[in-house]
Amino acid sequence: MQAQIDQYTAEINAFSPANADEVEAFRIKFLGTKGIIKDLFEQFKTVGPEEKRTFGKVLNEFKQLADAKYNELKENIGTSTQSKGNDLDLTLPGDGFAVGSRHPLSLIRNEIIDIFKRLGFVVAEGPEIEDDWHNFSALNFPDEHPARDMQDTFFIKKNNGKDDIALRTHTSSVQVRMMEHGKPPFRAIMPGRVYRNEAISARAHCFFHQVEGLYVDENVSFSDLKQTLYHFVQELYGEGTKVRFRPSYFPFTEPSAEMDISCTICGGAGCNMCKHTGWVEILGCGMVDPNVLENCGIDSKKYTGFAFGMGMERIANLKYVIRDLRLFSENDIRFLKQFQTEML
Ligand code: PHE
Repeated sequence: MQAQIDQYTAEINAFSPANADEVEAFRIKFLGTKGIIKDLFEQFKTVGPEEKRTFGKVLNEFKQLADAKYNELKENIGTSTQSKGNDLDLTLPGDGFAVGSRHPLSLIRNEIIDIFKRLGFVVAEGPEIEDDWHNFSALNFPDEHPARDMQDTFFIKKNNGKDDIALRTHTSSVQVRMMEHGKPPFRAIMPGRVYRNEAISARAHCFFHQVEGLYVDENVSFSDLKQTLYHFVQELYGEGTKVRFRPSYFPFTEPSAEMDISCTICGGAGCNMCKHTGWVEILGCGMVDPNVLENCGIDSKKYTGFAFGMGMERIANLKYVIRDLRLFSENDIRFLKQFQTEML
């Protein structure tokens, strides 16, 4: 009997099935109701009393080995091979899967980039955490000047007791970086996220997105600015969209203007969107102040330039009529999936 058990033990240890059927055959052979173990226990009844102790132990260990092996095989191979071949139906229709959509701000950003690329503008980027110089001083905001209050700033760190490091309040900081590190001509747009310390509501948020633009070269004039932005608006909102410029103030441009377009919703007839004026404001712009050029090491006698900046949420709003700014950052799938687009 001992020799028999030794032989079975070796067989079990060496057993390596190729499929679930072989595992089942193993179970029947060793553990089944008419199996080897059952049979050994029958034989055990006939063993003399003096041998019962030793054989009882050997037999129990053997049963445990067979059980353990079967459980292991069942886990490893049983599940993976069970349905092999039989259940595979190649004629079943495939599972549909939802195609994602682009975020409306990405759509707008890509569209704006496309339009300006065709005019020879490149895309420039810069850090969202900025120092006072790039966000303010180089842009002709004098220290303590009230113009700094136009943009409620999130300051992060002081330097020598003075507020210095901040979350950028506009992407004009990227214009400074570009001019400091390169040589004119510059023709670039700067899309990116900006931050302002505002209470969050349907009409204001503590962060939003801008696209600013910069064109510096010899003989750049206000008429270049007007024509560039006019072309941009025709491309984005369609031919026939009217534009008008109103005088404005920014520390970094002189002269400065704000640009309105005829209301994209009512076409100028008057509606809620345009507060019944027929016009909506979309951007600020102007000729780069010579002080800014000089701050960035550019000869303001030789070069002139124009700059402009717009809020992407505003542009998206006028295109898709999104009344609540918060929708842009809530990641509500019911909102986002309305912007199905071709992904390729
Ligand atoms: N940086 C300005 C803002 O954030 C926008 C602007 C850019 C205005 C360039 C004029 C010229 O409000």
